[in-house]
Amino acid sequence: MIKVTSEVQTITQMTRDLPSPLALVPTMGALHEGHLALIRRARQLVGPDGTVAISIFVNPIQFDRASDLTNYPRPLKSDLALCERAGVDLAFTPQKDFFYHSDHSVIVTESLLSKGLCGSIRPGHFDGVLTVVIKLFNLLQPTLAIFGEKDFQQINLIRRMVRDLNIPVEIVGHPTIREPDGLALSSRNIRLTQEHREDAPRIQRSLSAASDLAVTGEQDPAAYLRSAKKHLLANAPDGFSIEYLELIDAESMQAVSLLTKPALLATACYYGGIRLIDHVVIQDH
Ligand code: PAJ
Repeated sequence: MIKVTSEVQTITQMTRDLPSPLALVPTMGALHEGHLALIRRARQLVGPDGTVAISIFVNPIQFDRASDLTNYPRPLKSDLALCERAGVDLAFTPQKDFFYHSDHSVIVTESLLSKGLCGSIRPGHFDGVLTVVIKLFNLLQPTLAIFGEKDFQQINLIRRMVRDLNIPVEIVGHPTIREPDGLALSSRNIRLTQEHREDAPRIQRSLSAASDLAVTGEQDPAAYLRSAKKHLLANAPDGFSIEYLELIDAESMQAVSLLTKPALLATACYYGGIRLIDHVVIQDH
């Protein structure tokens, strides 16, 4: 496995010399089974002779809270060992000062899909995500790039950027990987207290209980939101709170007044200072 840390200038030349197709899995590290599933999918898609590349970079410009950036886990050595074992060909782990010029002043802003959910709560977050992702695309020039559907708004925004800016890369989505108890895997899970970790499957349980209303033909968004909220808050432990709970059109990501098309019931919740997101897609009405 080739490891490239600081030489941002040479990475493009290097990736050009690697066998194509090249699949990129962008990450912020603290790798878990969710990331490894993306790596395996990348290998499947490029075949044994293609190139699987991963980037590991805790992107400072997508964090809206300094404490979240400081506390983000950075187990680089064990991450690289996992990549090696998973058959990654190239690990790009740029250092912040090489990646962003000290006076960098261009960012990518999306102005429609980024308005709701995480975008409304975390100003500038998706500008930071899109900017780092387009830089990674430009540097590594992947044939395809794989993103998790857990971060539904993120992948939608990346698809929109690729479409609107004509970026020559194929975006592939991967379903959410979960713990056996239903909690979506996240690099943040290891920071939960034991009590909060045991309770955390309530998020997925509440969303799926609400989505069960679809079998009754329910089309009123308020009914889904009421049900999800009731389950989220019932006997919740101290420190639990809902940041947002929204039901939106899965494609346009705008609020809906009647459910007629696939919709997204999405939430972000806090356990103490740890923020977890999850969603369900409601298909049948
Ligand atoms: P990070 O949170 O490290 O996630 C990297 C990729 O793994 C993302 O595409 C994310 O959706 C996917 N992923 C995370 N948990 C998953 C799970 N349980 N199941 C399936 N996929 C999962 O998302 C980011 O980093 C950053 O915003 C990034 C795109 C790298 C830009 O900095």
